[in-house]
Amino acid sequence: MGSYRRTVAIAWTLLETMVFLGVLAVTCEGKVQRPEYDDTGAPEFLNPSWMASIPDSRPLSEVTLPGTHNTMAFYGGALTECQSWPLDLQLRAGVRFLDMRVRHVKGNLTIHHGVVYQRAHLGQVLEGVARFLQERPTETVLMRLKEEFSETNDIYAAVVDYVHCYANWDLLWHSRITPTMGQARGKLVVLQDFSGPDLGMRYGSLHIADDWKVPTLLHVSEKWQSVHEHLAAAAVGNSTRTYLTFASGAGIFAYPNAVAQRINGRLYKYLSDMAGISKRLGIITMDFPAAPLLKMIIDFN
Ligand SMILES: *[C@@H]1O[C@H](CO)[C@@H](O)[C@H](O)[C@H]1NC(C)=O
Ligand SMILES: *[C@@H]1O[C@H](CO)[C@@H](O)[C@H](O)[C@H]1NC(C)=O
Repeated sequence: MGSYRRTVAIAWTLLETMVFLGVLAVTCEGKVQRPEYDDTGAPEFLNPSWMASIPDSRPLSEVTLPGTHNTMAFYGGALTECQSWPLDLQLRAGVRFLDMRVRHVKGNLTIHHGVVYQRAHLGQVLEGVARFLQERPTETVLMRLKEEFSETNDIYAAVVDYVHCYANWDLLWHSRITPTMGQARGKLVVLQDFSGPDLGMRYGSLHIADDWKVPTLLHVSEKWQSVHEHLAAAAVGNSTRTYLTFASGAGIFAYPNAVAQRINGRLYKYLSDMAGISKRLGIITMDFPAAPLLKMIIDFN
């Protein structure tokens, strides 16, 4: 009986620790739609053609745009899930930067978040982007593409095959030079995070803050500091350089949704305090963004 009590006491202590770390708060199933955070199946409203009002002459590096981190991470539980809207809805909600990680097995490129297969392949992504750009020719889509959960370091040829098979060669912006808005319309700008000849812009040429490690929810403030410092740097930084800020983060004791609930809230407040001021903030990449937060980012243009 004594050891039973002790076990119960230890269990409670553990439970309290977990509550403290926010683990329980995020493993329950409730769906949330707030102005800054949305893990429901669809955005509150759409904003599918917002780039139509960006002048043709503006370099893409000077456009402020929202993105999603691990765009296709829908499966695997709270530890690996980063998004809840399907690709098409993300694009129609206004997201213009996609983060794609592919596993390469004998020429086959499947979408992965770490070990977790995301029940899709790169062809479906390319088809989805091509369809969207055909319907909305004023828009452009940027896509970071990297290898994940395989280490062939040789995905170039497979990517080219997929482009030919599921889209077409002209869908892509074929230069490492940053296009203007006019040049980019209707195009997919690959941000190439793998070796090989130029398929688009080089991911490594961007000015990036991706401090994704947030061990526990006690580290959210450090994460936020990295985000707002980089946004401030983007506002005054070299305008020919594309700035990319990841507002997403995770760790064993801080799931992507728990971090997003907290960081997206701070981001929303930070941006609303500056609303009405025209500033280049660059690309802001998030987990579980909500439509009003996307709109707030878009409105900086
Ligand atoms: C990828 O592999 C699956 C089977 O695992 C196959 O059905 C599919 O055709 C392959 N895709 C390509 C583009 O080779
Ligand atoms: C801005 O960055 C470009 C490269 O993107 C570089 O060539 C140029 O010298 C930089 N300008 C300044 C003022 O640092």
